[in-house]
Amino acid sequence: MTTAVIGTGGLGSVIARRLASGGETVRLASADNESARTLASEIGQAAVVAVGNRDAVQGADAVVLALRFAVLKSVIDEIAHSLTEKIVVVPSNPLSTDAQGKVSHLLPKGKSSGEVLAGWLPAGAHLVMAFGTLSADLFESSSNRSPKPAVLFYATDDERASEEVERLIRTAGFEPVKVGGIEQSGRLEVGGDLHDLVVSPAEARSLIGGV
Ligand SMILES: NC(=O)c1ccc[n+]([C@@H]2O[C@H](COP(=O)([O-])OP(=O)(O)OC[C@H]3O[C@@H](n4cnc5c(N)ncnc54)[C@H](OP(=O)(O)O)[C@@H]3O)[C@@H](O)[C@H]2O)c1
Repeated sequence: MTTAVIGTGGLGSVIARRLASGGETVRLASADNESARTLASEIGQAAVVAVGNRDAVQGADAVVLALRFAVLKSVIDEIAHSLTEKIVVVPSNPLSTDAQGKVSHLLPKGKSSGEVLAGWLPAGAHLVMAFGTLSADLFESSSNRSPKPAVLFYATDDERASEEVERLIRTAGFEPVKVGGIEQSGRLEVGGDLHDLVVSPAEARSLIGGV
């Protein structure tokens, strides 16, 4: 199967590496494609550098938008016509960091990026919030954990997106656990109770039931 990874920075590069090492073909794109090219040469034949964001989506079963929140809307608008019937996986937290490293929240308190994104996608796209619960370092070090695999939580309102993201999460070396619909996605983001937790499936299920 093939997944487009748009954004090959800190998190997107780790997602692409983990997916490729689980057997997925990845189609990569970044702002100027230099980081995508570097990553593709590191990954090898499982990676293809796309000509641009639209090209990345062509022929892909799913699209991971590993982008900062501030550029998500413009990239979605750019590729909107190609997203119909695609699974759209978004790990973004609604944060921005200024030149001094000061982090600020971009959405009003209580509003999650998942809820906002649901309104930006075209009809027919299958949204799932996933792959953004762990820092890139933790993501890398927790994949293929044994004997108990680590969990990646996800949130979606969409059955097709659930099936596909569970496949992708397993391909990346984790066990999927659904938190609920998009209205629950704030729990996965920075500040949410399930953010940055490396837990087993049993621990994850008890945490979900615990709120
Ligand atoms: N890093 C983490 O540990 C982590 C953990 C959890 C969630 N997240 C979330 O993941 C998202 C990405 O974070 P990050 O740390 O990976 O950010 P990052 O290192 O800044 O990477 C952002 C990527 O987006 C690409 N990009 C920017 N504008 C683009 C455009 N118009 N078209 C295509 N690609 C574009 C950049 O391209 P270039 O490479 O060409 O500059 C870069 O590859 C954020 O929303 C963050 O909240 C990150």
